Amino acid sequence: MQQKQKLILVGGGEQGSLSAEIAAFSWDVTGFVDAKAVEPYSAIPWLGTDADIYAILQEHSGARVFISIGNNRIREKLVDFYALPEEIYAVIVHPSAIISASASIAPGSLIAAGAIINTRAVVEAHVIINSGSIVEHDCHIGAFSHIAPGVVMGGGCSIGQGAFIGLGARIKDHCSIGAGAVVGAGAVVIGDVPEGVTVVGVPAKQIKA
Ligand SMILES: CC(C)(COP(=O)(O)OP(=O)(O)OC[C@H]1O[C@@H](n2cnc3c(N)ncnc32)[C@H](O)[C@@H]1OP(=O)(O)O)[C@@H](O)C(=O)NCCC(=O)NCCS
Repeated sequence: MQQKQKLILVGGGEQGSLSAEIAAFSWDVTGFVDAKAVEPYSAIPWLGTDADIYAILQEHSGARVFISIGNNRIREKLVDFYALPEEIYAVIVHPSAIISASASIAPGSLIAAGAIINTRAVVEAHVIINSGSIVEHDCHIGAFSHIAPGVVMGGGCSIGQGAFIGLGARIKDHCSIGAGAVVGAGAVVIGDVPEGVTVVGVPAKQIKA
């Protein structure tokens, strides 16, 4: 049997425990990095803090890294802080996810259980596509965005960098969600959402700029 490649997870919180469980299907989860030795949700060892990342990678030669922090801004800040080459970041995919052969997923992204990434969809780097979400054909998911469980987006949608799409939201086909925008849980988006605004409800309306 082929040996699994080592993986260092960054973040020992809720997203960390979820990522660890998914990663364990195809990676040797060597340990996690966090500010301190928080009680991990699984029995993986604490390896050190963010400042130790280069030493940790030297010790675990050939290891890849995955930033498993749910907050989009913190994930982005850490990538900047680490300044590691993009190819060191792993793609983590749950075995029950369905990914079209023509779709692409960039390093640092996670596709959770039961998610579907359909024809020609593009998932940029450091994106979280959570359990059971459907990313239809020709969607473009910007870097550092987070798609919560049970989201459904129709074909040709575009999600801007760092946007957050809440639990079970629906996004009509060919809609565009601006960078840093927030779509509330259960919202139904039927038009474009500008950058940085929060929308909620059915149909979705702006509550915050
Ligand atoms: C949209 C959201 C980010 C707004 O949070 P917030 O900025 O703290 O806003 P508030 O809770 O102060 O709510 C502001 C108003 O919007 C309403 N509202 C908030 N979220 C709503 C939602 N999802 N659907 C409908 N109305 C909503 C509130 O009832 C409130 O209305 P009011 O002013 O008439 O009282 C948040 O409610 C939400 O839906 N988050 C997504 C959670 C999620 O998906 N988590 C995933 C975990 S994996």
